Amino acid sequence: MKVLGISGSSRKEDISGVFKLVRTVLENTGVEYELVSLRGKKIGGCIACLGCARDNVCKVDDDMAPLRDKIVEADAFVIGAPNYYSTLNAITHAFLERWFQFRHQEGNTLWGKLAVAVGVGGADGRAPAGDIQRFFLYNFVETVATVSGQGAAACYSCGYGETCGVGIPAMVYGKGVKITPEMVPDVARQPAVVASAVEAGKLLGERLRGGHDRQQVTLRMQRKLMEMFKHSA
Ligand SMILES: Cc1cc2nc3c(=O)[nH]c(=O)nc-3n(C[C@H](O)[C@H](O)[C@H](O)COP(=O)(O)O)c2cc1C
Repeated sequence: MKVLGISGSSRKEDISGVFKLVRTVLENTGVEYELVSLRGKKIGGCIACLGCARDNVCKVDDDMAPLRDKIVEADAFVIGAPNYYSTLNAITHAFLERWFQFRHQEGNTLWGKLAVAVGVGGADGRAPAGDIQRFFLYNFVETVATVSGQGAAACYSCGYGETCGVGIPAMVYGKGVKITPEMVPDVARQPAVVASAVEAGKLLGERLRGGHDRQQVTLRMQRKLMEMFKHSA
């Protein structure tokens, strides 16, 4: 049994809230895992060439190709992304768009697998976590938990945060504020967020070890997707 973790942040792993939370979820599954960071990878969005229609294998030659086997082999996923303009950042969106390659001719490679969706934002990460959950649903993957945390907005480290009137530090603490390390939001110092990541990991591990029935999960996700389509029509 193996869980694939994906951190979609472009920030270095030691300062990325997404990376930290995805890792916390993985560490608490009690299951073998691999954590891959998309930082620095070249992954473009789906170009709708339909080269994958015959065999469910994407033909675009970029850094997505080596990740395909990992996605296929994984029993579950923990995917996290930063909140950019109230949605996913571009590379995580591109990565998930490319899961289109699994969808043809009732290709059931991903159907019934389990997942946790993680989002981090300068305010909060609910928007990207919800977006990841929707991508999972399109592949009939069940999201067993979502985790959202508050990360450090770039204004804390851009060099102008103490004086810029439209920056987050000035808006929260007033213009001319002296930025101290304690002020900079860090998911690792948010007990409720860490607890939800720990719980999400434990739940994912329990569901996996409980011998979850992929067929049942698939049927439930198919019904859920149909409901979503009905409500958006
Ligand atoms: C281009 C850009 C747009 C952003 N837009 C939002 C936003 O709409 N809402 C929000 O809460 N945070 C926003 N942020 C802040 C990031 O979500 C925040 O810095 C978060 O910590 C990034 O996660 P990371 O630390 O794992 O990279 C934005 C950051 C950038 C660089």
